[in-house]
Amino acid sequence: MERTFLMVKPDGVQRNLVGQIIQRFETKGFTLVGLKLMNVSRELAEQHYAVHKERPFFPKLIEFIISGPVVAMVWEGNGVVASARKMIGATKPLEAEPGTIRGDYGLDTGRNLIHGSDAIETAQQEISLWFKDEELVSWEPTITSWLY
Ligand code: PPS
Repeated sequence: MERTFLMVKPDGVQRNLVGQIIQRFETKGFTLVGLKLMNVSRELAEQHYAVHKERPFFPKLIEFIISGPVVAMVWEGNGVVASARKMIGATKPLEAEPGTIRGDYGLDTGRNLIHGSDAIETAQQEISLWFKDEELVSWEPTITSWLY
């Protein structure tokens, strides 16, 4: 089953948007298989964004990601990588479509609320960077009589 890595960034946590962001992925029908609130070390942030290390905004991006807790998550479902990117919206919140997370909640390019893996291969790398195997839970509803 396809999985993706999502991270609510420090601005999303500090603006108390974690619940609303998680709700969007639950409502869509994806399955949460890993979740942790954590402070990010500089080393982890630099590893995660290593591909962007020559970009001018890199130092600012790293300072931002380590500035406060983030919520790291793994979500599972058919087509979850591309679908989550659509639900997140364009990098610059002012250019993101209404109905997307960034389009609905964001204004600033740096503070764009949430990261999502950009491809299946990247997702696998990011999941193993942020989570140990034993922190991920594969599950399906087992009691259906009270599901509605
Ligand atoms: S992407 O998602 O790779 O297509 O976007 P890209 O434009 O290449 O940006 C790469 C990540 O850097 C973040 N970013 C910035 N952070 C701070 N300041 C500025 N100016 C800035 N521009 C881009 C962008 O949100 C991407 O991070 P993630 O966490 O993947 O969204």
